[in-house]
Order: sequence, then structure tokens, then C-alpha cells
Amino acid sequence: MEVAWSSRYDTGIRVIDEQHQELFQLLERLRKVVQEDGSGAAMEALLAELVACSERHFATEEAYMARFNYPDLGQHVSEHATMLTSLHELLTKFRENQQVMALMVPTFMEGWLKHHISDGDFGFVTFLKARNLT
Ligand SMILES: [Fe+2]
Ligand SMILES: [Fe+2]
Repeated sequence: MEVAWSSRYDTGIRVIDEQHQELFQLLERLRKVVQEDGSGAAMEALLAELVACSERHFATEEAYMARFNYPDLGQHVSEHATMLTSLHELLTKFRENQQVMALMVPTFMEGWLKHHISDGDFGFVTFLKARNLT
């Protein structure tokens, strides 16, 4: 099954939607490399890109939330931090030659991303839009 962004995850804030799409695209590329039994180097490069892309995306959202005093900032930041810890752990385990880790990432992160966008990101986007802050 393809890992794909869908319009149901459209928040209406362009920079955030573009970053979400980039994350889904990276997950799909990783899924394909794993499925096609690609090289470890290709998997590691994609995993590292996924971590970097997640860090950039979370920082963007957190800057928005901080700028506009979003009340659930702490909870949202902690969800991002937990995900980043998991991603760093997966990358470390992968580098320790447990290539099976690469198999887990697309499924694990796709589930998290879909849930987090629907449950967490829509919360602050709704908050910003209600105050005409976007
Ligand atoms: Fe997000
Ligand atoms: Fe988020």
C-alpha cells in the first residue's frame, strides 16, 4: 500500500501542507527502497532525510504556535519531541546494522503522522484561523 498524503490532511496553511506532503513522499520513497531491497546506504540516506525533514517541520509548527500563544503548545511540542526521539533511535538501530528497522519506519510513521495531523495539527490551525492569524 502506497504511503500517500490526501486532501483530508489539508490544513489550509501552505507551508505546513507542503511539509506534510514532503514527509509523506519521503515515507513512500523509503517504503519503495525497502520493498525493492535497495541498498543500505539508500535506506540510511532516506532515514536521515526523514529525521531532518521532521525536525524542520516541527520547528515550523512550534514557531507558529509560540508566536500566537497557542494554549496547547506544551502538549504538541511533547508529541513532536517523542516522535523525534523514536526516529533518532530507529536511525541509530539501523546504523547498528539492524536493517529490519527500515521496514518499520514507513508504517510506524505513517500511522503517527495521520493521527497527529488530524488530532494535533488541526487543533492549532483551527486556533490560528479563528483569530485570522494565518
Ligand atoms: Fe505537522
Ligand atoms: Fe504537529
